[in-house]
Amino acid sequence: MITVESTNVNPFQLPVRILFVPRGKEKELGVAIEGDKEGFSFHEGKIVYAIPVSDNPDGIRKYIARAIRLAREYRIDSIAVIPPDEEKETYFFLAEGAGLAAYTFDKYLNEKPFKVSKVFLISSDPNGVYGEIKKGLHFAEATNFARDLVNEPPNVIYPETLRDVAIEISRDDSSFDIEVFDREKMERMGMEAILYVGKGSAREPYFVHLTYRPEKTRRRMALVGKAVTFDSGGLNIKTYEGMKTMKMDMAGSATVLGVMKALSYFKPDVEIHAFFAAVENMPDGNADKPGDIVRAYNGKTIEILNTDAEGRLTLADVLSYVSKHFPNVDYVLDFATLTGAIMVALGPYRAGLFTDNTDIREALMNYGHVEGEGFWHMPFDERLGEKMKSRVADLKNTAEMRWGGAITAAMFLKNFVDFPERWAHVDIAGTAFTTEDSDYNPYGATGFGVRTLLRWLLSL
Ligand code: BES
Ligand code: ZN
Ligand code: ZN
Repeated sequence: MITVESTNVNPFQLPVRILFVPRGKEKELGVAIEGDKEGFSFHEGKIVYAIPVSDNPDGIRKYIARAIRLAREYRIDSIAVIPPDEEKETYFFLAEGAGLAAYTFDKYLNEKPFKVSKVFLISSDPNGVYGEIKKGLHFAEATNFARDLVNEPPNVIYPETLRDVAIEISRDDSSFDIEVFDREKMERMGMEAILYVGKGSAREPYFVHLTYRPEKTRRRMALVGKAVTFDSGGLNIKTYEGMKTMKMDMAGSATVLGVMKALSYFKPDVEIHAFFAAVENMPDGNADKPGDIVRAYNGKTIEILNTDAEGRLTLADVLSYVSKHFPNVDYVLDFATLTGAIMVALGPYRAGLFTDNTDIREALMNYGHVEGEGFWHMPFDERLGEKMKSRVADLKNTAEMRWGGAITAAMFLKNFVDFPERWAHVDIAGTAFTTEDSDYNPYGATGFGVRTLLRWLLSL
């Protein structure tokens, strides 16, 4: 992680070669720079680089992200940054933006990219903003933890190793408990939907329940993540284009684990139950077949018509399990890279939020806005729900219709939630991974959802 330090030392006295300043503020330093766009000049032996800043959370994150990218280009490892204002929160967003922008996934590269290792944030009250900086860095670190899990290749992160990540978190401190079901246990329990998704894989599936218990509990929440560690499509195999990023199909669980990982620092007064069914979707002689009928944990039968609509099968068992054993939770949220259709509907910058619950909707929309994570409210539609009924089982796993694919998937899930008024489904298929390399989201996993969830949890 990058080091971020607040200081009230005159920036021209700091051990850095470059100083970043919001465009317009360079005059306060007695520096003249031409024009009103990005530009630089030399002053007292340093480069003074002015960047236009929109003074809002995303603008502040983008400002420092730009500074870090420029420093990287110039191969300067320590920088000083003048904030656009001295609000405490500004230091949170600067530290968060720095932590997010400095992220690289380079462990498999022999030639490592140049890294910026130190940022000085100028402040007239360095001690007063210390806490905000620390908090911002923890938000970034939790996001980067999730990014790492998604960026790791599928020969490194598979069901067993993903389970181990949860076990490691539970060892962090005594606020955590963990329960793991292996294949035999899931067989005895009747979690046939998950088991069928994993049938074609050489890897054993695992069901994981990680609990965080605070000292005083103000709310209870269940967080479910889709954890398909690789989605080949199974016998309904994907194309080259469709398959090449399918290591990301466990991003929902990475989001949940990123949040859990941060709780030992933040210690919110919310009891949190994290669940995921880690499984790999592969074709082979034992694989599930179109036409197979399985019984989910809640007893409902499902005709598997398309082995590539596997995420909803795994979530069917997990959501049924939560419904049966944790009926007292205030909220249940699932995060899942569920459908390509959500990308068609919303593009790659907003996740589809399916919920009737106004608390959840307002929290995710508003805190998402602050954290630079886009959510968009999507409708449940009973008529599309009808399309998920099979003639030979209670349900089928595809609508056999091209339209509204993200909604039919959400309607399918609804059959496995006993208290849908307290539930939200978030389809992050478009937002979990970026092939662009922009501001504070470098190429690859985004860690989408971690920061919004943390901000919400800390507000409860
Ligand atoms: N994991 C995919 C969805 C996905 C697509 C995630 C692109 C991220 C990027 C999911 O399991 C899937 O294959 N969904 C199918 C459903 C269809 C067969 C009903 C889809 O979206 O095509
Ligand atoms: Zn699939
Ligand atoms: Zn999938």
